[in-house]
Amino acid sequence: MKSVSIVLALGLLASGGIALADDDLYKTKNCFACHRVDRNTLGPSFKSVAAKYAGENGADLKLAQTIRLGGVGVWGQVPMPAQNQVTEEEALTLARWVLQLK
Ligand code: HEC
Repeated sequence: MKSVSIVLALGLLASGGIALADDDLYKTKNCFACHRVDRNTLGPSFKSVAAKYAGENGADLKLAQTIRLGGVGVWGQVPMPAQNQVTEEEALTLARWVLQLK
């Protein structure tokens, strides 16, 4: 029940247009080391991530999990290491911010 209300609260925040705050989050949470919004660096650009999962149900939850656990093989053979410094809530906020980029 608690996690449901957190998800709801995050949803409200995300629809309220806090893109700037999330932008800060990605810069302070180490993502910036390997990601940029609109060009591929070590990791895929966040805009190409948004395009890949556009319209996919549950993509936010799936990407939030990938952000925390890391992953490999979706974009290439360079692995993304687990980002343990990010909480579940932050991961979901980041995933939703990435997905709304155009
Ligand atoms: C050390 C480099 C590195 C860091 C730091 C990093 N990433 Fe990644 N990220 C990658 C790579 C490489 C991939 C591609 C992995 C693959 O091909 O499956 C990736 C993939 C992703 C994806 C797409 C996953 C998928 O399954 O399509 C998202 C979303 C993402 N990263 C978000 C983040 C966020 C948010 C952070 C910060 C909390 C972060 N990354 C930090 C390297 C990094």
